[in-house]
Amino acid sequence: MLNWDDPVAKFRAPASGGAEAAGAQVQRERHARAMLATEALAELERGQPRPSLQDKSEAVRAVIDQTAAAALAVHEDDGEHGITGLEQVEFGARRLAVDDKKMINCRADLNQLVPFKYKWAWQKYLDGCANHWMPQEINMNADISLWKDPDGLTADERTIIKRNLGFFSTADSLVANNLVLAVYRHITNPECRQYLLRQAFEEALHTHAYQYCIESLGLDEAEVFNMYREVPAVHNKAAWALQFTQSLGDPTFSTGTPEADQRLLRDLIAFYVVFEGIFFYVGFVQILSMGRRNKMTGVAEQFQYILRDESMHMNFGIDVINQIKVENPHLWTEAFQKQIIALIREAVELEVAYAHDTMARGVLGLNANMFEDYLGFIANRRCAQIGLPEQYPGASNPFPWMSEVIDLKKEKNFFETRVTEYQTGGALSWD
Ligand SMILES: [Fe+2]
Ligand SMILES: [Fe+2]
Repeated sequence: MLNWDDPVAKFRAPASGGAEAAGAQVQRERHARAMLATEALAELERGQPRPSLQDKSEAVRAVIDQTAAAALAVHEDDGEHGITGLEQVEFGARRLAVDDKKMINCRADLNQLVPFKYKWAWQKYLDGCANHWMPQEINMNADISLWKDPDGLTADERTIIKRNLGFFSTADSLVANNLVLAVYRHITNPECRQYLLRQAFEEALHTHAYQYCIESLGLDEAEVFNMYREVPAVHNKAAWALQFTQSLGDPTFSTGTPEADQRLLRDLIAFYVVFEGIFFYVGFVQILSMGRRNKMTGVAEQFQYILRDESMHMNFGIDVINQIKVENPHLWTEAFQKQIIALIREAVELEVAYAHDTMARGVLGLNANMFEDYLGFIANRRCAQIGLPEQYPGASNPFPWMSEVIDLKKEKNFFETRVTEYQTGGALSWD
């Protein structure tokens, strides 16, 4: 078990001695390796009168590979998991091969981005960078005058704006904390970690975007940011998600047993498939509907950028989840699948409750019953994406324009947005 107060301790000190003994051991290993290289060179010179430089370096490389392989074998036998990328650098260790890489419980060097094993993860990192945007570049003037005009919006429309800013401002913070403090250290692949870093920055931009909306409209910041502790429908979703980050963030938690690996897989599903893939969708539909009716177009534009990012986050998470399944098929037991299905069904109920709470009456051509259908449709898609049977037979999509927004390969200017202009390179990818 790693000591998280000092995660490199086990690599620094052997079980039988302190730091001093460990230092002496490293010195002995280096000395032995140098001696082996010298002997190999001497042998080469005895056989061939004038060994070439290439022969010499090959002999040294062979010795280095041998000793590195032996060292790796020792680490593999020690029964410990959870290599962090913070271990001591092993001088002369053999070079990294694609097959050394694994999504979880990987023992290969985590500080070497290439060679890529998961090219899709790198591509998503590039796509994320190509879609860069900043909240303050969006014009909020029309929103400010509409919000300040007493007749500009109905009370129900104002509730929708405030509830969603309340939910999302906390939700993106929860997602960012989950990535940085929980998920990152258990995903043992550098190209996926590269995407996680990009995602973490995007989550910061999303929290920034909500803050920017709250500030522009002059809302009561304390009321909005504290909503997850005051409004039951907002609180219930945040509280549901927190249990799936607390377990991974627990300093005593490490992967490497089937139970722990299932816990990681379950928590990834809770955040990527449920939180970002189901809990965001009532709010997205509501705010984007407002934009389609030419109301609060600045807020709606912010949400449109966020939806584009979130769509990619979710798809990245689904790829990670499916890759873990491929590499660890023993985790995907029938009992585990039932647990995940129960979790998704519970989440749908919470999101339906959120729809009812935010829309006591019909508003913007929407009503809560339409969302029951929509959430069944979304949940069916999520189940299919991770290889589970659909749970809501016959559920249909009452908002086909949402699919259009999410699935579009090329951006469409449906309410005067500038999404396309923010492309800094590469193609806009909605996958
Ligand atoms: Fe986000
Ligand atoms: Fe996200």
